[in-house]
Amino acid sequence: MNESEQLDEIITCRINDRRKTVEPCSMIIFGASGDLTSRKLIPALYHLFIENALPNPFRIVGFARREKTDQQWREELLVAVQQFSRTQPIDMRVWNEFADSIFYTQGDFSEVEAYQRLETKLSMFGDERLRRNLLFYLATSPSQFGEVVEQLHDAALLTRDNQEKFWQRIVVEKPFGHDLASAEQLNADLTRFAHEKQVFRIDHYLGKETVQNILMFRFSNAVFEQLWNRQSIDHVQITVSEKLGVGERGGYYEEAGAIRDMVQNHLLQVLSLVAMEPPVSLDAEPIRDEKVKLLKSIRPLSIADVAKQVVRGQYFAGTIDGQPRPGYRQETKVKTNSDVETFVAMKLLIDNWRWSGVPFYLRTGKSLPLSASEVRVQFKPTPHVLFAEKCGGKLDANAITLRLQPDEGIYLRFNGKVPGTSLSVRPVRMHFSYNSEFGAYTPEAYERLLLEAMAGDATLFIRRDEVETAWGIVDSIRNGWKNKPLTNREFYSAGTWGPVAAEDLIVQSAHEWRNPQPVN
Ligand code: BG6
Repeated sequence: MNESEQLDEIITCRINDRRKTVEPCSMIIFGASGDLTSRKLIPALYHLFIENALPNPFRIVGFARREKTDQQWREELLVAVQQFSRTQPIDMRVWNEFADSIFYTQGDFSEVEAYQRLETKLSMFGDERLRRNLLFYLATSPSQFGEVVEQLHDAALLTRDNQEKFWQRIVVEKPFGHDLASAEQLNADLTRFAHEKQVFRIDHYLGKETVQNILMFRFSNAVFEQLWNRQSIDHVQITVSEKLGVGERGGYYEEAGAIRDMVQNHLLQVLSLVAMEPPVSLDAEPIRDEKVKLLKSIRPLSIADVAKQVVRGQYFAGTIDGQPRPGYRQETKVKTNSDVETFVAMKLLIDNWRWSGVPFYLRTGKSLPLSASEVRVQFKPTPHVLFAEKCGGKLDANAITLRLQPDEGIYLRFNGKVPGTSLSVRPVRMHFSYNSEFGAYTPEAYERLLLEAMAGDATLFIRRDEVETAWGIVDSIRNGWKNKPLTNREFYSAGTWGPVAAEDLIVQSAHEWRNPQPVN
């Protein structure tokens, strides 16, 4: 071990083992023919296999309507992995070894015999742990959750009592409903045959390293945590911008819009991690308790508040990186007079001791100039005494930016003297980059999430009350938009940072949007 490795060893505090114990199990994917399976799940499992992180033995069973053999499914998945794997090329020797654990069973979700076939397939695996430790991944439409869970229960594949030697868990994808009422219904459907502890609701943002680092950053650094409150912070901006338009997902997006697609889950999750109180421990429940408490302290929005504090937008044709881009209404499966929002900006207030009076601005949109997700914490300015005469309001207040993706890192912006005989001040940056510090380690969020679900750790998953509270916030916003078509100030050209109305929103509070910048 060289000197620097020794230092790392001394200063690294292992909070838990890098690899949790994951018992041998089978993962059954419902909706196995879908996009998620080929783009995310199988590439993630393949990488976990490469890293030796999967339990041994382990089996994957795809469940879908189309007729195909195990071998045919393996071949299809190979093509997908060749396209979507984060590492290339695929090592065929490793793939073949991995593919030996992949199986397929054909069936309709409502067909009793299909679950019997699944049972037969599982019993072929011999090892009792592969037959009874079961991770059911519902990559299906939420309208099918209830049916699948009931059928699994009837086929004795899912047992509600999880005190036994063996376990069964259900992983569900977003969208988790389309409003509070439907989310409550889904929760009721799922927990009819499973305990809440067996339900793992995914928000893939929680699987991102940088999102997980928010808690580490806040609670393991006294220097920042002491400033993390209304005394020092002027306001916070959370931006998730995407260059991509809705592309082929017009059908889904017409039902979702940016508020359901991004705000209900990813943005509110990031907000709760940035603003929550320290949990009593790093276990799942204390962390989730604090997140829910934070979401519940967001000041409710009346219809009048929505008009003042929330802005929608929709892109029209424009250019991004010199390439022409269609308007939202020209995208496939989108109505030509659609009023669905592709952009949302809002100002939220958190009514608790720490944050009273500090605005949190949340903003997300498609067809924006840059893909970047970041949290910018803007500190209060210094008293305008020493530099007031010459610099006035131009002296930049300090800011910390947590760059969640890409170019993951943290920047501290402060003022420094420009070298020379004159006395000039200008903002400078201190920059921590994940890549330079730790090397290019970029596991996909799904790798971490799948492993956590297999290990039974719910920290990175959304609890029932959390998802319902988030829907309550989104419903109040949608209520304010009801029967209100978009106005001219709410359209923006593809390739710009959103509609004029978003400027109006922030200017009213004497703030300005700080757009993410490309990192050189
Ligand atoms: C998904 C949304 O949940 O998140 C997509 O449905 C969005 O519309 C995506 O593009 C963004 O995720 P990421 O990981 O690319 O930031």
